[in-house]
Amino acid sequence: MTDRIPLLIDTDPGVDDAWALLMAFASPHHEVLGLTISAGNVGLAHTVRNALKLCEIAKADVPVFPGCAVPLVFPADDAAYVHGRDGFGDTGYLAPARRAEAEHAALAMIRLSHAHPGLLLVCLGPLTNLALALRLDPTLPSRVGRLLVMGGAVTGQGNTSASAEFNLGFDPEAAHIVFEAFESFDLVDWELVLRHGLPHAEVEAWLAAGTPKAAFYRAISRRTREWSEDRRGSLWHCADGLAMAAALEPEAATGWQHRAIEVETGGRFARGATIVDWTGRTGRPAKARILAGLDPARLHHWLRLALA
Ligand code: RIB
Ligand code: CA
Repeated sequence: MTDRIPLLIDTDPGVDDAWALLMAFASPHHEVLGLTISAGNVGLAHTVRNALKLCEIAKADVPVFPGCAVPLVFPADDAAYVHGRDGFGDTGYLAPARRAEAEHAALAMIRLSHAHPGLLLVCLGPLTNLALALRLDPTLPSRVGRLLVMGGAVTGQGNTSASAEFNLGFDPEAAHIVFEAFESFDLVDWELVLRHGLPHAEVEAWLAAGTPKAAFYRAISRRTREWSEDRRGSLWHCADGLAMAAALEPEAATGWQHRAIEVETGGRFARGATIVDWTGRTGRPAKARILAGLDPARLHHWLRLALA
């Protein structure tokens, strides 16, 4: 009987997702139950294939469940310009040997929540799969011990539009469904990610660790690290890695802010934006526990452990 924390990860790998997954696989305190895969950074066929390949590299015998190929209502652009056409830096890696499960991600989420009530659910991509699971089974939140979402931009400094962050901007309707259904959830937003940038030189030193995982990650991340250096300067931002560190070690947080939050699903200029009620004027429940900071030393610990 393991006393490790059961962990289910919904993800759209994606280069930064990949580092977060390696962190989860490396945690001695967590049992990764499975990976439910969404479209987002790139199309579902690539995100599923990337998840299978990463499990192979990490020797992680973890089931991979394909999810929704498109957002709930309106189409959205991917982020291939950041992650590469295949989502893993277009390295042409050898196809994974293993196949994905036949069970849909939304159904797997429901089943695993019954098998492991109280599980930790970490969402690193668009929330389409979780929203579908909630429509199929509205009692799902009662069996989720803790939900952590990487997404949003809590003062409107977006990365996919002026005010929207990619994950929630890709499927705002799904995010709205999730935020309405859960009484509370942890949120690691894009603006916090920008405050936890990683010096490129330090990342390159870590990736020179000489292990198969480090070598694979160095290859798939090269393109997005070069893109980032050109566009954002001396720091690289691993959004999902920060989110996963907060999920694996909440004690490393330097503070949380509890606030009511909404996702804009209409509007001409701000579809997908997260509207935080910072002053409590709406009287809406303060469901979001917004991470205010994480100890950089602990983030670096998890990032390096992931590559060992
Ligand atoms: O905005 C950053 C988020 O969008 C990360 O999860 C990244 O992988 C992309 O999905
Ligand atoms: Ca992601």
